[in-house]
Amino acid sequence: MQIVVTGGLGFIGSHTVVELQNEGFEVIIIDNLSNSSRDVLDGIKSITGKSPIFEEFDLREKSKVQDFFKRYPNIKGVIHFAASKAVGESVQEPLLYYENNISSLVYLLQELKALPDANFIFSSSCTVYGQADELPISENAPVKPAESPYGNTKQIGEEILKDVCKIDAHFNAIALRYFNPIGAHSTAKIGELPIGVPQNLVPFITQTGAGLREKLSVFGDDYPTVDGTCIRDYIHVVDLAKAHVVALQRLIKSKHKSNFEVFNLGTGKGSSVLEVIQSFERVTDLKLNYQIVGRREGDVIAAYAETTKANQDLGWKAQLTLDDAMASAWKWEKQIRNIK
Ligand code: WQD
Repeated sequence: MQIVVTGGLGFIGSHTVVELQNEGFEVIIIDNLSNSSRDVLDGIKSITGKSPIFEEFDLREKSKVQDFFKRYPNIKGVIHFAASKAVGESVQEPLLYYENNISSLVYLLQELKALPDANFIFSSSCTVYGQADELPISENAPVKPAESPYGNTKQIGEEILKDVCKIDAHFNAIALRYFNPIGAHSTAKIGELPIGVPQNLVPFITQTGAGLREKLSVFGDDYPTVDGTCIRDYIHVVDLAKAHVVALQRLIKSKHKSNFEVFNLGTGKGSSVLEVIQSFERVTDLKLNYQIVGRREGDVIAAYAETTKANQDLGWKAQLTLDDAMASAWKWEKQIRNIK
């Protein structure tokens, strides 16, 4: 069964390709290599022994998207990761984000419409909730006005899917709202490859541990939380990848009430920044050099998932712990920096 994974050479995409191949799916990756490398293909193959088909082009090129679907008429589903995802950059370059994240989605859906099986999984984000009024955050929590163009493209993407599914019953779509994906595959053959200075916490921690960064700046310790630092739901990327396979199988079996569903993907447990640092120090036996500095603009105080819907309707639950994720992230960092 052929499945398209856009952005399949990226962090979450590559881990999902591995789990799809483990389940026997034939994977076709579309990636424009703007935020990934062809070497990731070798990493995937070294884990599963199978080479996904790789098509290098930009989903903003409508004619290339049309040509692709002509060449692969038997696709059973699409998992759409390809998007720009840096919150800060999106504030500086909003039009880049609307063009890339919205037009690629529209071109894909226009082609999928013509296929017998229009199964579509959309990579969304807990960022749509902003600072939720209640914790843990359930799928019924109100979507708040986006705090960044990046977050807005996720909200708009979900609205586009909702409208398409409403008017075309043969469409089957699921939006997966990720909390904070971290970690790497246990083999350390694939992992997160941030370009330049990492914006996200965990790659910055591991790069500091590896000596690439002098110290971690902790953005504020005056929040109303257990230790004053922000709380997030850090989910192991392999657990997240497995959720995509389960969601795809749900679409293919069409075992669900409506043709558009949303699921939160998190562990259900919140961890503070200092608790993540303590986890890193525990699993590595290293002392992390960090300094408390001022708050970062746009950070929410706390966000962690209510996981009942994913547990009950998807039959999926995160299995790996924060320590598992930090240990895998560190193993990956050492692997790519040739640290023993
Ligand atoms: C986590 C916590 C920071 C870096 C973002 C996007 C979200 C998704 C994941 C794409 C916060 C603190 C961080 C640092 C720090 N992206 N921190 N020092 O902001 O929760 O989510 O990335 O899909 O959509 O919004 O993740 O890892 O940037 O921050 O203290 O150097 O770590 O303040 O409390 P975030 P993050």
